[in-house]
Amino acid sequence: MDIISNPTQDEIKKAAKALKDGHLVAFPTETVYGLGADATNEKAVSRIYSVKGRPTDHPLIVHISSINQLDKWAIDIPEHAVKLAKEFWPGPMTLILRRNNFAKDFITGGQGNVGVRVPAHPASSELLREFEKLGGLGVAAPSANRFGAVSPTTAYAVYEELGEFFGIGDLILDGGQSTVGIESTIIDCTKDEIVVLRPGAVTIEMIENSLHYKISSSQQLSETKAPGILDNHYSPKAIVVLSEDAQAGDGFIAMANFPTPKGSIRLAAPTDIEQFARVFFMALRLGDQKGLNKIVVVPPGGGGLAVAIRDRMFKASAGQLRSEN
Ligand code: TXA
Ligand code: MG
Repeated sequence: MDIISNPTQDEIKKAAKALKDGHLVAFPTETVYGLGADATNEKAVSRIYSVKGRPTDHPLIVHISSINQLDKWAIDIPEHAVKLAKEFWPGPMTLILRRNNFAKDFITGGQGNVGVRVPAHPASSELLREFEKLGGLGVAAPSANRFGAVSPTTAYAVYEELGEFFGIGDLILDGGQSTVGIESTIIDCTKDEIVVLRPGAVTIEMIENSLHYKISSSQQLSETKAPGILDNHYSPKAIVVLSEDAQAGDGFIAMANFPTPKGSIRLAAPTDIEQFARVFFMALRLGDQKGLNKIVVVPPGGGGLAVAIRDRMFKASAGQLRSEN
């Protein structure tokens, strides 16, 4: 396995070829790093599951270079989905749509729906374009972490998570730190009304503005109700507690205006909500690197991106606080 820093055009072409040849390529996206495989190659996709240690009934998101590729993977695409795709792709949004023939059971976990996303990081855009030039149709990519662990936002975090499971010919592309820092917004577009399955940087307010209607609370699945999404996702080794009180020796993550409780170890002090999203997973990892037993996190208030950060905090704390809505 090789790690390629700031890949050149030529190196990206080689990575696309590696995908086409059935290897795994971990690559940067603006949300988190993905563990990619040719989405039409069952053997390659099965390696994603074994490397991640993920149950095979958990569906994978197919990444494509542009909306033009969408009809390879999806059919009966409703108008509101097209509108969202045109507005927010490339970007941190995944659409769940009725699957087309290329989306086999080994991608969809046997469901009739498929998740599709056009990521925005320049290296991922280039990788997908080069892959498609070689005849590829899409790249299946979950977050590049072991099942249940925190998503990686740097190439080094991918290496730490999965390095030992990679083989000859597999690659990690290093494109710097993911700028968004939390996974894409997932929107189910298979019903009359859309349902937000996972909040992200394409916020409820942005979706409402795009579609010109109000998203009701029943259209926002809370993290404990979403199908196939387990409570203990996104967990570091340390226990995560939602509170403003930290004891000596605890890790502490909060907006910069919260003073560090005496004796606790400050892991992040973001000054705005975008920065909070960007550093949150890294801060959890830092707590594990320091061998902390407990990390205290102060959920940011308000709507927009704060909703997605709170969602990840609740999941990291394994559903200790369940009443988000
Ligand atoms: O930002 C992201 O979305 C990252 C980057 C790499 O693109 N990917 C990502 O993938 O977070 P993953 O597999 O770690 O999380 C995707 C979630 C899973 O909870 C999965 O169950 C859900 O999306 N999902 C995927 N396809 C689905 C489908 N057809 N129906 C319902 N849920 C689906
Ligand atoms: Mg994941």
